[in-house]
Amino acid sequence: MSQRETSVDSPRAIQSPPPEVVYAEELEHLAAWDDGARPPGWRLTPRAVVTFVIGSAGESLSAKTASGTRSLVIREKFVGDRALVERCVVTLAGERGLLLVGDPGTAKSMLSELLAAGICGSSALTVQGTAGTSEEHFRYGWNYALLIARGPQPEALVPSPVLTAMRRGAIARIEEVTRCLPEVQDALVSLLSDRRLSIPELGDADYAARGFNVIATANLRDKGVSEMSAALKRRFNFETVAPIADLKRETDLVKRRAGQILADVGRPLEVDDAVLEALVTVFRDLRSGRTVEGWSVERPTSVMSTAEAVSVASSLGLATAYFVSDRDVARLLPEYLLGVVLKDEPKDRGKLLAYWDSAVRRRSEGDARLWRTLHELRARLEEIT
Ligand SMILES: Nc1ncnc2c1ncn2[C@@H]1O[C@H](COP(=O)(O)OP(=O)(O)O)[C@@H](O)[C@H]1O
Ligand SMILES: [Mg+2]
Repeated sequence: MSQRETSVDSPRAIQSPPPEVVYAEELEHLAAWDDGARPPGWRLTPRAVVTFVIGSAGESLSAKTASGTRSLVIREKFVGDRALVERCVVTLAGERGLLLVGDPGTAKSMLSELLAAGICGSSALTVQGTAGTSEEHFRYGWNYALLIARGPQPEALVPSPVLTAMRRGAIARIEEVTRCLPEVQDALVSLLSDRRLSIPELGDADYAARGFNVIATANLRDKGVSEMSAALKRRFNFETVAPIADLKRETDLVKRRAGQILADVGRPLEVDDAVLEALVTVFRDLRSGRTVEGWSVERPTSVMSTAEAVSVASSLGLATAYFVSDRDVARLLPEYLLGVVLKDEPKDRGKLLAYWDSAVRRRSEGDARLWRTLHELRARLEEIT
């Protein structure tokens, strides 16, 4: 990937550059900031990796670099428990792989990319698990033209991202590992336990360089997933990634991410904080089945994830940027919410209406004008098909 293509200002800027590109400056800074002991093969110390993932909480970290002493605030990226991130880092420094489990949209993939970027400087050695993933995706394949022309030899071998990670002593990422068929998952077992991959065609074996490890992710709600074998489970430490616990932190994140998405198209995010807070409140209420006031509500089948909330917030932002005035943007909220709620189960419209008739109605009787406006829009929820 050339520098020109990854620059955000370039007309050919790529859509979502990996964290090692976006945060290259932070990674370099953190390497200089903490020159303590690192696990073999790691670019950063465990403490610096954690700081990279969760940020320096506004604190300016100074480091001696080639060009003198510099200070840098490390931005918050993954919003969550420091203790969780520390456990992940400890696991990765050890002998076992790390498996991040949780509902969709809880930033498991994002966390695994950040950890990989922090530890080995690359989040790109990735295998996406699907029902069609084969053993080759974890091991190696062949360049058949070369294989036929010259027979089995190292040049004809096409390494999988996992094999490349073993050779480099880097982190391999396996997305949605439980979507792979069990026999394919088993190919991982020997990799993780022996830390060696034999290549019988070459009469050879590759040994994992120090620093090699695996981060896998799995969604708890996936339909049609394959169970993980007991053998594979034993090779991983499991960490559950939960939705963001605090309303304010979640609202801030949604605002920040939507702001970044708008910035990518060169526009500011002009959606009121109150609208964003209402949006995140509805998501949280429906996700947990209990409102902030403690009233219970029925949960829709759809995952009311933070990722979906970010997507609705950025749609509202784009709508204000191109079509409606920011005063009217709240009027779009009900239909976007309905869009998320109906994703999995058409019958769930009733649950959103019931939420409107209970929580939204009660709030509309209070002082907040926004909730009154939202309540007045109830009919939209019935009309839209
Ligand atoms: N705790 C969190 N911290 C930061 N971003 C989050 C968090 N939870 C959700 N997000 C947002 O959700 C998006 C989707 O996350 P992703 O990693 O694809 O989730 P998953 O792999 O769990 O389905 C992230 O890019 C981010 O914008
Ligand atoms: Mg994911």
